[in-house]
Amino acid sequence: MANLPGRELPADKAEAYAALRAEIAAVISGEPNRIARYASAACLLAQAFPARFFWTGFYLVDPDKPSELVVGPYQGTLGCLRIPFGKGVCGAAAAQRATIIVPDVHAFPGHIACDSRSNSEIVVPVFSTDGALAGVLDVDSEQFDAFDEIDQAGLEAICADLLTVS
Ligand code: SME
Repeated sequence: MANLPGRELPADKAEAYAALRAEIAAVISGEPNRIARYASAACLLAQAFPARFFWTGFYLVDPDKPSELVVGPYQGTLGCLRIPFGKGVCGAAAAQRATIIVPDVHAFPGHIACDSRSNSEIVVPVFSTDGALAGVLDVDSEQFDAFDEIDQAGLEAICADLLTVS
């Protein structure tokens, strides 16, 4: 799992997430612009797990329409531009302010199929420092059942850093 030039991530997934978290924190350190921080995180996450992460990116709460998510920085094929709260996996995670793992997206009521090659996904909420929902991190996989509690813990830790590591 090649990542930053000259770096290899550990084979153990939890250790890989810990190393990746440190890399992302180092890259975004000192950069206050949140789009730059999200874009860097999406890039490093997608490159870390190329076999499992088919689409990796952020949907952000639209300040002009606070009950809608609008697409943010991502790596992958063309994503939907907008997702209302409560719709699809991203909208459900935003409404519940909680991580959702879906082993088979075709069995999820209201799943939004931006790309029919996606078969499973994990969506993690991203919070502002004041506790408001800033958006969600959406990772889709061509594999079924691609995500587990190690992915959840790793991605939640990275998302928690996105607005707090300075
Ligand atoms: N799978 C998401 C939609 C976004 S994309 O697939 C990029 C969902 O159901 O929320």
